Amino acid sequence: MSEILQETAPRKRMLSGIKPSGDLTLGSYLGAVKNWAERADQFDCYYFMADLHAITVRQNPADVRRRTLEQLAQYIACGLDPEKNTLFIQSHIHQHAELAWVLNCYSMFGELSRMTQFKDKSAKNEDNINAGLFTYPSLMAADILLYQPDLVPVGEDQKQHVELMHDIARRFNGIYGDVFKIPEPFIPKVGARIMSLTNPGSKMSKSENEDTGRVLLMDPPEVVMKQFKRAITDSDSEYCVRYDKENKPGVANLMTIYAAVTGKTYEEIENEFQGKGYGVFKPVVGEAVVEHLRPIREESLRLMKDKAYLESVYRAGAEKASYVAEKTLRKVYKKVGFVAK
Ligand code: TRP
Repeated sequence: MSEILQETAPRKRMLSGIKPSGDLTLGSYLGAVKNWAERADQFDCYYFMADLHAITVRQNPADVRRRTLEQLAQYIACGLDPEKNTLFIQSHIHQHAELAWVLNCYSMFGELSRMTQFKDKSAKNEDNINAGLFTYPSLMAADILLYQPDLVPVGEDQKQHVELMHDIARRFNGIYGDVFKIPEPFIPKVGARIMSLTNPGSKMSKSENEDTGRVLLMDPPEVVMKQFKRAITDSDSEYCVRYDKENKPGVANLMTIYAAVTGKTYEEIENEFQGKGYGVFKPVVGEAVVEHLRPIREESLRLMKDKAYLESVYRAGAEKASYVAEKTLRKVYKKVGFVAK
């Protein structure tokens, strides 16, 4: 089936993944998944749950399992139609780990040492600076190169890993010929970058606790409202809703969120809240988010109860993904000199 699809579909291929190391947030949705859902007709899309990456930091196994399935349910609830997108679980495709090993042998100690994410995570997990944390970028390079995608949308924080993937692929191709297609760098501008509600200087993170000002896709309405009511606004004397990212980052972040869920422009929002203070603005944003997330949350909860359906989706995804991945891996194995099975 995949062969027919590939031959008749001239669409460019796109691939991305999210680690199930924390529950998906409003930031993951507005910054990534929502935009992915809009691309299904234009591109041949592959999205996966990066569970192999999640264990570079110590995890509770039951949480990894739950989050992986929940992430799949949420992808679908956010509009990723499994008929149009290939949705799969990374660990189901053994070729990721295999290609990662080969690429480890073409990744340099020095370049891996320079990764800022490795430095940050080592500082935060001093008692568990494991080799997986260090070679994380080789696995990520394998995730990408196995599928020969044209585009890999990632957040700003993954830019360095994508650049390293380019270097590894170029190095490999330099020795063995054109084995890997090297995707274009692509940091989408359209995807809103959502910051923490209590610390608008840093990205809304899925890995940390609720005191860090994050809103989860699955948070019940009262929790979402509480988070928005506690959101930090700016301590400027102006006390008005105006978009000024530099001087009013808290308000700008709330405006970005409100704009993304309502489709309103910043100007419309400024007019709507003219003469009104932050005390009025914050709960209105909270309510708009609650209403926007309601169908996603309800659909995710419904899908989570339908394990047979989720299983059929990830199995079909794995079948399609492994077909593509195996083709690349076989080529790589041959190039480096392994005897064919
Ligand atoms: N490292 C990415 C993150 O933390 C997740 C990821 C793993 C990924 N493999 C990938 C993203 C391949 C894009 C392509 O967000």
